[in-house]
Amino acid sequence: MAPRHFLTLTDLSAVELRALIQRAIELKALQRAGKIHEPLKNKVLGMVFEKSSTRTRVSFETAMAQFGGSAIFLSPRDTQLGRGEPVEDTARVLSRMVDVIMIRTYAHEIIERFAAHSRVPVINALTDQWHPCQLLADMQTWFEHRGDIQGKTVAWIGDGNNMCHTYISAARQFDFHLRIACPQGYEPDGAIMESGMKSGGGHVTLMRDAASAAHNADLIVTDTWTSMGWEEEQEKRLRDFAAYQVNAEIMGHAKPDALFMHCLPAHRGEEVSAEVIDGPQSVVWDEAENRLHAQKALLELLLVQK
Ligand code: CP
Ligand code: NVA
Repeated sequence: MAPRHFLTLTDLSAVELRALIQRAIELKALQRAGKIHEPLKNKVLGMVFEKSSTRTRVSFETAMAQFGGSAIFLSPRDTQLGRGEPVEDTARVLSRMVDVIMIRTYAHEIIERFAAHSRVPVINALTDQWHPCQLLADMQTWFEHRGDIQGKTVAWIGDGNNMCHTYISAARQFDFHLRIACPQGYEPDGAIMESGMKSGGGHVTLMRDAASAAHNADLIVTDTWTSMGWEEEQEKRLRDFAAYQVNAEIMGHAKPDALFMHCLPAHRGEEVSAEVIDGPQSVVWDEAENRLHAQKALLELLLVQK
């Protein structure tokens, strides 16, 4: 049977995503209560990182350890992947040994090729286009703090990047409205944008003005202005994004009980002011922790037979 992959949020149905969030909340409670739960005993996760990571690496390794399995960290620096061994061959070989593979890479097409040649489930741990594992954690965090997100208004302020794309996908799957405010030239991918605008009810609106996007919003989200792989544009981006900082003035346009999220790593004084990220509306540390719980729920879903 073909393995089930998680390359984008749309690899799970809306019903499965909601169930996964509930399971993540349960797994968090189990962990907090010190209960041992080892559904992946003797299972091995292969982790291919072509870009840096703190949260993703630690959350997946910890998830496997807590589940009774183990994880192997693989970087291009010390694998043959970095010396030109084809992605397809690497996928064939790794998937004959390990039980599940997680990849963080550049072009999304690389992970699609990898998955097409893998015998075991492949998880997208960030590509230039998508970051679906982060959205599982973000949604868990919202549900824990505020309940259902259906019908709520989320403002994405900043770059139309991989996180923004995944928010567009989440808007459809979780049925919330997403307002995106970004500078000219930094809009999300046209086809992804269209999928969100054309979805029943039109889940996405593109705006230029950050304050208008934040108006009465329930959740304000941002991310770095310079994603991994775009470092040479950093100086230009600092200038182009100057009007898009999430600060107290922007939060003041949102609902008084609005939450603030950021996938991290954050740059205080750039995309977010210190008073917002370190302030009472920020839930970024819960969001980071929930990477662990949400990915445990994902690993269970992909690997444990019901
Ligand atoms: N948010 C996130 O994916 O963080 P890392 O780059 O540290 O994994
Ligand atoms: N958009 C960022 C997210 C990092 C977790 C990047 O791709 O670098």
